Amino acid sequence: MSDEITAHPVAWPPAPIKTARLVLRQSEARDRAALIELAASPEVGTYVGGARPRDELERAMPEVPGRRFGFFVVELDGTTIGVITLDRRDPERKGHIRPEGLEPELGYMFLPQVWGRGYATEACAAALDWFVDAHPGEPVVLSTQTAHEASMSVAAKLGFTEVERFEDYGAEQWLGVCSRAR
Ligand SMILES: CC(C)(COP(=O)(O)OP(=O)(O)OC[C@H]1O[C@@H](n2cnc3c(N)ncnc32)[C@H](O)[C@@H]1OP(=O)(O)O)[C@@H](O)C(=O)NCCC(=O)NCCS
Repeated sequence: MSDEITAHPVAWPPAPIKTARLVLRQSEARDRAALIELAASPEVGTYVGGARPRDELERAMPEVPGRRFGFFVVELDGTTIGVITLDRRDPERKGHIRPEGLEPELGYMFLPQVWGRGYATEACAAALDWFVDAHPGEPVVLSTQTAHEASMSVAAKLGFTEVERFEDYGAEQWLGVCSRAR
């Protein structure tokens, strides 16, 4: 997270964002177990650096995790099923659309038991709409491994188009960009 994004005069947290099936909202203490589950799941970690040991997570995770600008918890019928992030992309990383980096970047992570039902795409679309209202005209980037077919599919459905491919973390990565209008 950079000062640039937090310094923008946009109220955070926003009122909970409702979609047809989901609610996006700021994290609460009651989300901790689901956030540990996400970070400890080998399936979730397959293309994002692997799972972390559960006992380490239990020790290290704050009582209210994810309390920061752009971090949305996604809820289905009162149950936490995933998270969406809008952070500034680290200039030290490969893959940018401008020399100074710090582009707004979309991230998403859902529990395996809810994959394949369109929830990730539905929630990301709502988060992008919120972002467009807050930062009109600013393109959002997304980076994923090309081998991660489900993630590539989410990116395409959201309207991200390819900027470049590059090697990082020992795998081919894809950088996409999306300029969304309301
Ligand atoms: C990436 C990830 C979020 C994708 O989840 P997902 O459930 O496959 O994605 P979606 O929500 O778009 O659902 C996809 C499928 O739901 C199906 N679906 C079922 N009911 C649907 C509905 N009502 N509406 C829309 N799609 C529906 C679609 O057929 C779609 O498949 P398709 O893309 O082949 O057409 C998930 O794999 C994940 O959390 N992975 C671990 C974390 C990770 O790697 N994140 C990416 C970091 S870059």
